[in-house]
Amino acid sequence: MCGIVAAVADSNIVPLLIEGLTRLEYRGYDSAGLALRDDASGGALSRFRSIGRVADLAEQAKNQSATSGIAHTRWATHGIPSERNAHPHMSDGIAVVHNGIIENYVALREMLLAQGYVFSSDTDTEVIVHLIVHLAKTAPDLFTAVAQTCKQLEGIYAIAVIRAADNCVIVSRHGAPLLLGLGDHGNYAASDASALLSVTRKIVYLEEGDVAEISLHGIRLVGAEGALLKIGVDRPIHISTLSAAEVEKGDYAHFMQKEIFEQPEVLAATLEMIGGAQSLSPNIFGATAPDIFADVNSVLILACGTSFHSGLVARYWIEQLAGIPCTVEIASEYRYRVSVPNPRQLVVAISQSGETADTLASIKFAKSLGMEKTLALCNAPESAIVRECALRFLTRAGKEIGVASTKAFTTQLAALFLLAITLGKIGRRISAKDEAEYLNDLRHLPLAVQKVLTLEPAIKIWAQRFADKHHALFLGRGLHYPIALEGALKLKEISYIHAEGYPAGELKHGPLALVDEDMPVISIAPNDALLSKLKSNLEEVASRSGELYVFADADSAITESARVHVLRLPEHYGLLSPVLHVVALQLLSYHIALVKGTDIDKPRNLAKSVTVE
Ligand code: M6R
Repeated sequence: MCGIVAAVADSNIVPLLIEGLTRLEYRGYDSAGLALRDDASGGALSRFRSIGRVADLAEQAKNQSATSGIAHTRWATHGIPSERNAHPHMSDGIAVVHNGIIENYVALREMLLAQGYVFSSDTDTEVIVHLIVHLAKTAPDLFTAVAQTCKQLEGIYAIAVIRAADNCVIVSRHGAPLLLGLGDHGNYAASDASALLSVTRKIVYLEEGDVAEISLHGIRLVGAEGALLKIGVDRPIHISTLSAAEVEKGDYAHFMQKEIFEQPEVLAATLEMIGGAQSLSPNIFGATAPDIFADVNSVLILACGTSFHSGLVARYWIEQLAGIPCTVEIASEYRYRVSVPNPRQLVVAISQSGETADTLASIKFAKSLGMEKTLALCNAPESAIVRECALRFLTRAGKEIGVASTKAFTTQLAALFLLAITLGKIGRRISAKDEAEYLNDLRHLPLAVQKVLTLEPAIKIWAQRFADKHHALFLGRGLHYPIALEGALKLKEISYIHAEGYPAGELKHGPLALVDEDMPVISIAPNDALLSKLKSNLEEVASRSGELYVFADADSAITESARVHVLRLPEHYGLLSPVLHVVALQLLSYHIALVKGTDIDKPRNLAKSVTVE
């Protein structure tokens, strides 16, 4: 979703702003812009905006020089992607960039129109800049005017503000991420640390309602209640461990491909803490986990998109291994429905980014219903969702840049398997022997995934046959039904082929009507207890001239024919089999998208970090 970079430094910051925006491109955007303060002219602001890529903006601004400025990538929420709607928005020598949604913008707009302010965009953001101008007329300084403005905003925002008359940038956040960067030659703000890697690793995460004034020689920081805060005391300084290699493609054609191939390594990193252990401690989920888990009688998982699918797999594991009920809800639905709260339920929020607005709101909603046993399963250590929950488990997928989630998903699965074992152990459902065996399986998982990656050449050949397809059906059963959903999501996200995931047994209750010679049916067929049932479902497809692409295990005993294509995964992996099968489906989607020539890492209309509702 939108990205912000802001800088005040002792030399030209234009290259940094452009590089920062480039690093934030992965978040998804449709236009970009920046406002620069020109010291030489005594502080005039110049603005550049583009509805193309950041590279086009870079071209526009290539001869510019400034020591302070704000920059933005926009993902349209209010108003179509166009130059007039691109940020920064300006009014009377002030420029603003904004990430989020201002929910009371209509009322504010009417008030400002009545005061004579003229609007030149269709965005909700523009009210912010006019309101700052309005309040600055009576406020002692820009900082106060911005703080007063924020008090009137309802909704979600991270903002950066610059004024021609001041050599500083004011930033604030509420609901959307924003961090400060402390450098040797300047100070900065950005939506995430990757944007600032070339100038600093010293990061300060802003809390809800913080307002900061960034200048060359320091940062003034005031909390939501108006108290002056000390950086390093009230807000700790973190040293970002993000490596430049993590945000670069290396020899891979796309980030998605790189991230698919990183899975053995990041699974090993996520599972590092189990080392050679034969037994798990609940403390891996936090110091208070033993007490919290001891009283848990069920699990509620809240998540969106791919993270929701990992929750669906976990439901099978938790009910089987821990023997307690587990429900999985789409966060954006749960937060608005009347449900029956259960204070003994463990509420698990799963999120790669830790900033997904719906997931964050759903966990807050669960807490408001008295459900305080909360666990964040997340890939971003200082994210809002992690901070909102009593317990945490951090996956170690590293930075995921491709919009289509891959390595974040498989590391979530590894973490959820650990959770299922832990709950099973606490509930005395798992013997010490079984626990040791499950841990051995987990330790072997990176190698097993590595073997699946060797299927890439064969999957590439399959992918060619999808080039002219408009629809695809993914089938799975049991544990692999959520993997069918995930396979379909991956395919539609990056290839724009319409795809549906179904539990194979459901086929005859409706979707079979879609099957004809033009409808490829991708099926996940591990050699498990449901294989014979699945084979009957596949017969139903074959006898209607459907073309089957089957991912089977080595011993699945599925026979190939002209319209039944079979790829065999190197080994059968029991309960952890979904982790292997999904990797094969990720590769299939990737190569189909490659054949179709879509923008794989930045698919149209999508954003990496969905910080608005
Ligand atoms: O950061 P999160 O895991 O909370 O994100 C949830 C979804 O937005 C995300 O998984 C989305 O579905 C991805 N584009 C899937 O590839």
